[in-house]
Formats: sequence, C-alpha cells, structure tokens
Amino acid sequence: EKAGFEHFMMKEIHEQPKAVSDTINSLVSDGRINLDNVGLSDEVIKNISQIYIVACGSAYHVGVTAQYVIEDLTRIPVRVEIASEFRYRKPLLDKNGLVIIISQSGETADSLAALREAKNLGVRTLGIVNVVGSSIAREADDVLYTLAGPEIAVATTKAYSAQLIACYALAIHFAKVREQIDDNEYKNLIDELLTLPDKISKVLDDKERIQWFASKFANAKDVFFIGRGIDYSISLEGSLKMKEISYIHSEAYAAGELKHGTISLIEDGTLVIGVLTQQDLYEKTLSNMVEVKSRGAYLMGITNYGNYNIEDTVDFTVYIPKTDKHFTASLAVVPLQLMGYYISVARGLDVDKPRNLAKSVTVE
Ligand code: M6R
Repeated sequence: EKAGFEHFMMKEIHEQPKAVSDTINSLVSDGRINLDNVGLSDEVIKNISQIYIVACGSAYHVGVTAQYVIEDLTRIPVRVEIASEFRYRKPLLDKNGLVIIISQSGETADSLAALREAKNLGVRTLGIVNVVGSSIAREADDVLYTLAGPEIAVATTKAYSAQLIACYALAIHFAKVREQIDDNEYKNLIDELLTLPDKISKVLDDKERIQWFASKFANAKDVFFIGRGIDYSISLEGSLKMKEISYIHSEAYAAGELKHGTISLIEDGTLVIGVLTQQDLYEKTLSNMVEVKSRGAYLMGITNYGNYNIEDTVDFTVYIPKTDKHFTASLAVVPLQLMGYYISVARGLDVDKPRNLAKSVTVE
C-alpha cells in the first residue's frame, strides 16, 4: 500500500504532481478556469468586499500564501486567521465578505466552528476541502474540492499542494471576473499553472542531494527558516514540517524581523534556511543571510535557477525551476518537506505517526 516507499509521507510527497494536476484539471477546461461545480457566480464575485481565510496548521499556511496571491492579483483585501482565534474573537465581518475555510479533512473542530460562526453572522462561506462529504464540505455554502486523494501521513504534503492550486485558481478567476488582469495575463497564468506538476517532479529529482545534506543535521538543536512575502509563507510551512516530524525546535521568521530580537539565538553552526524565490526581494533576504552567516550560521538556500551568486554566501543551495512569482510556494515547499522527512528518518523517528499528533484534530 506504500507503493514501494518506506513511508506514506514519502509516497505522498511523490504523489504531489498528480494531486496538483488532478486539481488543476478539475478547475481548468479549454484554457479557462471553470468554477461551475463550485457555485460562485460572477455577480457574487464582483461584489466581494473582503476575503477572510480561516484554517489551522498547514492549511493556515496555505492561507498565508493565498493572502499574498489573491491580494496581488485581485486587489481584494484578504485577511487570514487561525481558526481557533477567529472563532472566539467575535469577528467583525463585512456582509459582502467571503469566508474561505481551508481543510484537508473537513473535520477539524476549530475550522468547523469558525465556519458555523461565519454562517451565523450571515456571511457567505466557501470550503476548500479534500474529503468528500465531510462536515465542512456539507455545511459550507459552496465547496471547492481538492483532488489530492486520501492522505495517510499525519504531516500533510499533497493536500497542502492541492490547496495551493485551489487558491491560485480562485485568485486568477476572481482577477479576471473583476477585470484586474487582461486576456493575455489570464492566459499566461493558466498556461503556467499547467506546468507546475512537471516542475514539482523536477524538484523531486534533487532528493538525493537533499538527503545527503539533511543527514548532517540529525542532531540540530534549532533550525530557522526565513523569507519575505510569499517566501515567508513557505518558511512557515517548512518550519512546521521540521517540528512536527523531526522534533527539532524551529521557527519561521519574516527575514526583516530577525534583527528585532531573534538573531541573538544564532550560534556557531545554527542551520538557517532561507527561501528566496521572490526576485524583487532576493537581494534583501540575501543580505539577511549574510548577517546571520557573520554570526556563525550554516546556510541553506532555496532559490530560482539563475541566482547563482547565492553560492557566494550560502553553503548549500537547492534551485527551483522558474515559474510565475505567485506560484513559487508549490515548488519551494518540496525541498522543505524533504528536509523534514530525511531528518526525521535520520533520527529514527516514526515519520508517518509523530508523537502527540492525530491526522484529524476533532477536539478543540
Ligand atoms: O484537516 P485540516 O486541513 O483541517 O488539518 C489542519 C491541520 O491540523 C493540519 O494541516 C496539520 O497542521 C498537519 N498535521 C500539518 O502537517
């Protein structure tokens, strides 16, 4: 059932190109985004005043990425919130707002409670859900299903990747309906979306190098992940993967925030992983990498092919294929998933069933 892989997590990491392409194919037909099965009419989309994305864990991290992507493409203000915070803070929601709940299982207690809270407040809800017929799928006004298939490993990989695609598709579609992008940009974005499965496979080809590098950090005490913009959102997910399955303390920081306190934690040999896929922020984050290096950090970088001068600073680099700047999380997350996986394996831990965790968190 693990199809020749040692763990479900590794199998699911390799199923990402398929999860992504199945999800894209369900949302794109004849070169257009088609949300007929989801239900949001153009009229509804034109009237959205504000988007609230609410989720937990990795699904929340998808929301953080989606905030950057949706705001940039649609110019609709987006707020993203952890479900267990949202539900208790008596949220002030605009009646023309759209609440998007992201959940693989569709059963996460706090996400479900947040959905009910939004409905009580009379705001339209959309679920981005993987499990068909789950509670969130049944109760949301509209549902966009991700087609990742069953996910067994506690640490999510392919469902996360499919959720990103769902958010990109919404962003492109909303941007087109609201006339924020022209036909040409629309076509280019969709063409690029269709290339993501192959590009994810290409990143997976680098796994042996990553395994070699990861095995050196089996005894790390702390790991820091830094990035700016979308790269910060990717860092959040990389850090959660590391904690969840390797039991190594890690933190994700917006790169510019390090010097406001956290940089004092950097010691000789501390691993700092920089995510540098946003070309306009590349030099800024690189200079933060230089700063931590001068305090003794050991550096890993993830960046786009072509940014070869990173090697002047960084000890180990993983290059990802070029893609549209809005879609880089889909590629840059893969080496981070592999880092978490290989460090967990090197430490002899139960990768698929980490201690203290359940696949679906149905208690509050
Ligand atoms: O089923 P959900 O997407 O609602 O689950 C949300 C989180 O519990 C989940 O993403 C969790 O953080 C994962 N174990 C992370 O790998």
